[in-house]
Amino acid sequence: MATETASRGLENVVVASTRLSAIDGTAGRLSYVGYDIHDLAERASFEEIVHLLWYGELPGARQLQEFSARLAAERALTADELALANSIPTSGHGMDALRTLVSGLAQLDARADATDPADADRIGVRILAKMPALIAAWDRRRRGAAPVAPDPRLSHAANFLYMLHGQRPSATAAQAFDTYLVLVVEHGLNASTFAARVAIGAQADVYCAIVAAIGTLKGLLHGGANQKAMETFLDIGEPERAGAYVEGLVARGERLMGVGHRIYKVEDPRVRHLRRQVQAVAAGAEARWQAIADEVGRVVAEHPHFTRRQINPNVEFYSAPLLYTLGLPLDLFTVAFALSRAAGWMAHIREQLADNRLIRPKADYHGPAPRGFAPIEERG
Ligand code: CMC
Repeated sequence: MATETASRGLENVVVASTRLSAIDGTAGRLSYVGYDIHDLAERASFEEIVHLLWYGELPGARQLQEFSARLAAERALTADELALANSIPTSGHGMDALRTLVSGLAQLDARADATDPADADRIGVRILAKMPALIAAWDRRRRGAAPVAPDPRLSHAANFLYMLHGQRPSATAAQAFDTYLVLVVEHGLNASTFAARVAIGAQADVYCAIVAAIGTLKGLLHGGANQKAMETFLDIGEPERAGAYVEGLVARGERLMGVGHRIYKVEDPRVRHLRRQVQAVAAGAEARWQAIADEVGRVVAEHPHFTRRQINPNVEFYSAPLLYTLGLPLDLFTVAFALSRAAGWMAHIREQLADNRLIRPKADYHGPAPRGFAPIEERG
């Protein structure tokens, strides 16, 4: 009965229209709402980009101040929210904690299921502002440390590092993390964004859509790859070992994490900015991780397994040494990705809500031909 051709992995299938980002995987171009990523990275803050994605325009100075003030007001945790961070298990992966914490936020919101534009906006600010505070409090608790209240004078990026480490980050570290957030906030219909659109398309609420996206982002082929890429670099240990390591991995038919992309067939335009930020923050012994990544990149650029398949370092490749150098525990790497991409998910949720239709593709049936039913006593 197989009558229709399935597109495995929905490759090249267009299932939504968006104003948010444009990706040209052959030319290696990415833009947010018309602005080239090379013009935004290192020049516009995360808060400016979120404003761009949610309201369609970069903010003026006053608009930015107002928007930042809304985030700052939501960032401080209420007693109930702190109790939430203090009550979930400290065992398990950071992404599992994040997923549970966002679910808990829904339970603490009397209007969690409202999806009108004003509520979607309110919930967006709430989730974006509270996720870093909640996960930082959770991470500190598992290390036996007390939570750190946000500093309203710090940016979104600097606040996360402050709430995590308990020390205000250097300007270089804050800039590096801000650039990271800007670079990973939005990327078309990647798997987690698609999951968010499917959930909201079925008229689940905004929290459900974000939780669905968090669960999907954890996937090793998606956001989970930044942790795995760092584990690979740690395993390699010295730049001189990169060649033999990659060779062995290819011979065993395994995947190298942090390289390859469904859409980019040339260098991902975000890679050079991430590499520059690693260079800015890594000093002394930490420079080793960039050296290892550089060497792995060089091997990939020359190895026929990768060149034949047009496989290049992706956004996770230098995110890994960057987040490591910024002192994040390995299981918060994908969490850091989620802290940014949540704003992209929200932007897509808003687009989906503005012109919703249930997302419901079909499957090509490949099971047995029609057959007769036998009652249980007649089955062998
Ligand atoms: N290492 C080794 N071989 C690879 C890799 C890799 N990382 N990626 C793809 N290939 C090979 C694959 O084995 C296959 O070979 P063959 O033609 O002999 O069967 C060929 O390339 C095509 O692979 P595919 O799985 O059909 O390609 P895809 O478009 O589905 O792959 C990908 C995209 C991201 C899943 C894949 O490149 C991958 O697994 N990369 C490693 C994980 C990773 O870094 N993910 C982050 C992606 S970017 C950011 C994000 O989405 O979060």
